[in-house]
Amino acid sequence: MVSYARERIKNLTDIQMNAEEFKKVVLTGIPDELPTKKAYDTSINHAPKRKEILTPAEKKLALRNALRYFPAKHHATLIKEFAEELNTCGRIYMYRFRPDYKIYARPIHEYPYKSIQAAAIMHMLSNNLDYAVAQHPHELITYGGNGAVFQNWAQYLLTMQYLATMTDEQTLVMYSGHPMGLFPSHKDAPRVVVTNGMMIPNYSKPDDWEKFNALGVTQYGQMTAGSYMYIGPQGIVHGTTITVMNAARKISKNEEERKGKLFVTCGLGGMSGAQPKAGKIAGLVAVVAEINPKATHTRHSQGWVDEVYDNLDQLITRIKTATTNREAVSIAYQGNVVDLWERLVRDDIQVDIGSDQTSLHNPWAGGYYPVGISFEEANKMMAEQPAVFKQHVQETLRRHAVAVNTLASKGMYFFDYGNAFLLEASRAGADIVKADGTFRYNSYVQDILGPMCFDYGFGPFRWVCSSADPKDLATTDQLALDVLEDMHRAAPDEIKQQLSDNITWIKDAMINNLVVGSQARILYADSEARIRIAAAMNKAIAEGKISAPVVLGRDHHDVSGTDSPYRETSNIYDGSAFTADMAVQNFVGDAFRGATWVSLHNGGGVGWGEVINGGFGMVLDGSADSDRRLRSMLFWDVNNGIARRGWARNEEALFAIKREMARTPELKVTLPNLVDDKLLDQV
Ligand SMILES: NC(=O)c1ccc[n+]([C@@H]2O[C@H](COP(=O)([O-])OP(=O)(O)OC[C@H]3O[C@@H](n4cnc5c(N)ncnc54)[C@H](O)[C@@H]3O)[C@@H](O)[C@H]2O)c1
Repeated sequence: MVSYARERIKNLTDIQMNAEEFKKVVLTGIPDELPTKKAYDTSINHAPKRKEILTPAEKKLALRNALRYFPAKHHATLIKEFAEELNTCGRIYMYRFRPDYKIYARPIHEYPYKSIQAAAIMHMLSNNLDYAVAQHPHELITYGGNGAVFQNWAQYLLTMQYLATMTDEQTLVMYSGHPMGLFPSHKDAPRVVVTNGMMIPNYSKPDDWEKFNALGVTQYGQMTAGSYMYIGPQGIVHGTTITVMNAARKISKNEEERKGKLFVTCGLGGMSGAQPKAGKIAGLVAVVAEINPKATHTRHSQGWVDEVYDNLDQLITRIKTATTNREAVSIAYQGNVVDLWERLVRDDIQVDIGSDQTSLHNPWAGGYYPVGISFEEANKMMAEQPAVFKQHVQETLRRHAVAVNTLASKGMYFFDYGNAFLLEASRAGADIVKADGTFRYNSYVQDILGPMCFDYGFGPFRWVCSSADPKDLATTDQLALDVLEDMHRAAPDEIKQQLSDNITWIKDAMINNLVVGSQARILYADSEARIRIAAAMNKAIAEGKISAPVVLGRDHHDVSGTDSPYRETSNIYDGSAFTADMAVQNFVGDAFRGATWVSLHNGGGVGWGEVINGGFGMVLDGSADSDRRLRSMLFWDVNNGIARRGWARNEEALFAIKREMARTPELKVTLPNLVDDKLLDQV
């Protein structure tokens, strides 16, 4: 077993700054005098070098683009530095301009502001760049290997300055991390409108991202990274717990029988790091492979992984003991997942549940590491020999699929975890496609989240207490629990399980110590629960029971926010899974119903060009305006997707939308007429 000291990860280079100094620095924006050049900090997890993609002329364009943030007097100094960054990192991050203060979700009143809504946005985006939260903080990447908040530090500094000075009569417009500026608007308009990676459709291939991102004109926002709504691994622990628990229910309904079942998967990164914790909460022996020692260390030091092994002999012995003793335990394998899978096959170990959460939305730039090559060598190869690297990745995917197929033939339940594993394995020629062209395995949305949650309107609602005070979070937990328990008493059978799973979750949330970064909470709720919980929190703010505004939001991975045919909408079977009307309508509809900020992204989860997704943030300040906005926007934000899922003939969504129409006379949704199969068979 590998042992690590359990220290909290901190950035040794940060200097402590008092609140007044911090405010002054934020208001300065891009400083007129150049800050001192910073040494490359090797204690931090850095983004891999991006591949060489620009021609010499395009490199000049990238430099010209970068320098437009600075007065001409600095160009001669900065051009050399930026050219070096472009050559060594493949991007211009402008490291020199990284602020000296520690970035984290400070209590809201510590930010300089004229608009409290804008201060709440600073609180949220700072959390996305907190060292304890972000995957590659110096490259402004929150999760997923390339999920960026900004492309460079100049954009960060300018955005903070705009937010600190804007009023409730202005809207800040964000083009893929670049603050285009403040435009006059009105108090009911969003304070910020974010778009990330929006491309002319024909220019949305992975290499287009490499090129246009290197030029500094677009970015991959993932989902909650580019929309300032990331809440650390808690966000995904909950969704993962729901998924893994229901996957376990698929192999056995009996809780006692499920104890000690073996769950094998991969990834301890930004999102995937939640898997061991979720597996343990679900009572399983969770074994998770991870190639990057820094990622393993992070999850172990946060207590999300109980034990770490880098020796397969020892690991196999430990797995046998854990399953025999029916332990609930989380174990990391420090190494390549394909070595693990092949060893499990060789030793004929019975795996009950299998999945994978490597970053296969980004297979050629560090999302998936080839077997038989060290982590360091692979990082070098992907930048210097991209074609060879691609071959290794595809070969690894084929071996990966062979091992999974073998164990599945012995009874393992395998599901695709929304990371494009099946898609990329099929593109690599792996034996993963059935004769009818569909995949051998279903996605977790097809089997679990779609029919059990999204179609009923249950999705990852979340909130953040901008006071940064855990006492406020405890108050909101209690309010949410009261609402869920009240709803459970009168709920139809179809949604009783979802409510009771979330009641258990919220009761244990504090004990499970889930907060990393901002004081945030997530739970799965339908539109009624979201509205009732939000209204109760708004009232509690007005009554002084919660000390500062609360920010509402959700993961983009939800009922209505995302059109993604291999993930969120993989259980849409009327052909419309390849359209993106729902996500775009949702973004627009949220914007005019009172969201404080809205975002629309190309890419997120399964890769650039493969998904359109959006999200929102809404600041509750205890006012009547907040109450009006939350009711209008949350209703739309859930029911838009249920209506579409119902129109696609999904039974559960039809149940939910009819129930909503019975409750809300102003809602009138077009319902599908169902065709008798026999009639179609005769054609
Ligand atoms: N299912 C969901 O709800 C959901 C939600 C968010 C993200 N995702 C998807 O899951 C994927 C992972 O997200 P993330 O934020 O954790 O990304 P990440 O890049 O932070 O983590 C992936 C981890 O996998 C490791 N890895 C890659 N190849 C490996 C290999 N061959 N062997 C061992 N380890 C390997 C990487 O080192 C990395 O730490 C993404 O594609 C993301 O889009 C799914």
